[in-house]
Parts: sequence; C-alpha cells; structure tokens
Amino acid sequence: MSERLVTKITVMGLGIIGSRCADNLAKAEMDVRTWNRTVKGREDEAPSAMDAVSDADVVAFYLKDGVACREVFDQIRSCLKSGVILLNHSTIDLETTQWLAGECEALGCAFLDCPFTGSKVAAENGELVYYVGGDEKLLEMYREILEVTAKEVIPVGKVGNATVIKVATNLVSASTVQALSEGLAIASAHGISPDSFISAVDGNACGSVLAAMKLPTMVQGEYETHFSLDNMLKDAKFAMQLAENAKLKTPGIRTTASVMQSLCDSGSAELDYSALYKQFEQ
Ligand SMILES: NC(=O)c1ccc[n+]([C@@H]2O[C@H](COP(=O)([O-])OP(=O)(O)OC[C@H]3O[C@@H](n4cnc5c(N)ncnc54)[C@H](OP(=O)(O)O)[C@@H]3O)[C@@H](O)[C@H]2O)c1
Repeated sequence: MSERLVTKITVMGLGIIGSRCADNLAKAEMDVRTWNRTVKGREDEAPSAMDAVSDADVVAFYLKDGVACREVFDQIRSCLKSGVILLNHSTIDLETTQWLAGECEALGCAFLDCPFTGSKVAAENGELVYYVGGDEKLLEMYREILEVTAKEVIPVGKVGNATVIKVATNLVSASTVQALSEGLAIASAHGISPDSFISAVDGNACGSVLAAMKLPTMVQGEYETHFSLDNMLKDAKFAMQLAENAKLKTPGIRTTASVMQSLCDSGSAELDYSALYKQFEQ
C-alpha cells in the first residue's frame, strides 16, 4: 500500500452517500474518522465535528447543501491543521464553493471542488464519478484517495467549474424524469401497457441509462430513495440561480421545480426524485 493510502481522512455527512464512501475508505484500510450532525452510532464516529478533524490530513464533505457546508466549516475551522485538504463532494451553490475555497486558502489549507455523479448503488460499489475543479497537480496528489470511492475522476478546470457542471447535469436529470413522467402518464391514459412504454423508450433515441433506471420502478409506484426529491429540488434551485446570474430564462426547470416543491410540501420530500411521477397518481 502506498504512503498516500494511510492518510487520516475524515468523512463529514453520513447520509446515503457519505456513509457508503466511509465504508469503502475503511475497507481500503485507510485511517477513517467520521462525523454526522445526528449521531449514527458508527465505531469510527467522533463525538464532535471538531474532534473529527483534529488530526485529519484530508476532510471530505458529503453534506446536504451550501448551508450545511458553511455551518460545518465554521465549526471545524479552528481545528484544521495547515496543509489539510478539504474535498467538497456535496452539491452546493457556486457562491459557497467559492467561499469554501477562499476560507481554506486563508487558513493555509488546500481545497478541491469535487462533486460527483452516481447514486446509492454506485457509492456502495465505489463507482462514483467525480468532477474536479481546482489545481490539477493537487488533484494528482489526491487522485488515489478519490479513486477508492470512484471509477472515474474527471478534471474540469478551475474551482467552481465542477459545481456548475454538477448543477447543470442535475437539471438535465430532473427534466428527464419530469418528461418520462408526462410520457408515461399520457401513454397509460390511452391504454398503453407499462411494459410496452418501457420497451418503446428503450428502443428510442430518447432512451437513456436514467430512463432504464427509473421507469421500471415508476410504473410500479416504488420510490425507494437513491437520491431524494428534496435534494433534487435544492439542485434545481441552484440551477435557476445560475441561470438568473447569467440572465437566462429556463422555463423547463422552473416548472419541474414547482412540481417538486408541491410534492415535497405534501410529504414526498424523502422519497426518490422519481416520485415526480406521483403528480399523475390518483
Ligand atoms: N444520493 C445521490 O444519488 C447523490 C448523487 C449526486 C450528488 N449527491 C449530493 O451529495 C450530497 C450528499 O447526498 P446524500 O444523498 O448522501 O444526502 P442525504 O442522504 O440527504 O444526507 C445529507 C447529509 O447532510 C447532513 N446535513 C444536512 N444539513 C446539515 C447541517 N445543517 N449541518 C450538518 N449536517 C447537515 C445530514 O445530516 P443529518 O443526518 O443530521 O440530517 C446528512 O448527513 C448532497 O449534496 C447531494 O445533493 C447525492
């Protein structure tokens, strides 16, 4: 095992993804410490955010959003050793990404903007794909650590680029699931069987890995959470903010976000975001 892999790494945020990444880092025999706002009872869990990072070389955030990242960073800033690197894997707003980078620089710490694609199963299998914004030499120093939880690591230029790419690609995913929901609802209302519709989409240019993942469970009304509706709504809001900053009108995601908002308000926030189809369920 290389010297890099015995690095002390702290995983902060033990939700769907962080918990699985922490497991994989531990399986790779890395020195892992974890922390979660709500105690999870893991053996490697520290009693406080400050304890969790006190001797860390690498701190990895798998937190919900920008608010969570700022709150947690404020809790740990006085305990970060100079030379530590913060890897932010949470999907957050661009402003918070820039804020984290600036705060790290001021403390003499390094920072990489590295959100990911891949969901619960990919995280379990160590097959996420990280988009990485930041210094490429820094990325190469930490690539081996990123590859414990990922099948691919894609450099995308400066800090902030990965955040923008992640938010823009999630806009495409939310819009795709909204379109699949509308198509399925129309087909069903006109007597087309779910299996016929699934096969038709599969053989059509509009078919995709996402359609193949989500349609079979949507037709069954099963919404086990891989990526929550609440988190997809958050990312739609980040996308609308980025559009507004660039003076762009994005009516598609605006409509999808308002549907997601109503479903979240009526109790579906913690379901998978494919619960978008619930808008058509009786
Ligand atoms: N799941 C996916 O498929 C997927 C795919 C790509 C990107 N992402 C992104 O990766 C990140 C993690 O995703 P996830 O699915 O693991 O999310 P999740 O299951 O919703 O977990 C969110 C985590 O953030 C913590 N948190 C929330 N607010 C906090 C606060 N104010 N202070 C401290 N901790 C806070 C939660 O702690 P508590 O347990 O205390 O609530 C939990 O550990 C999110 O940004 C998500 O958008 C997820």
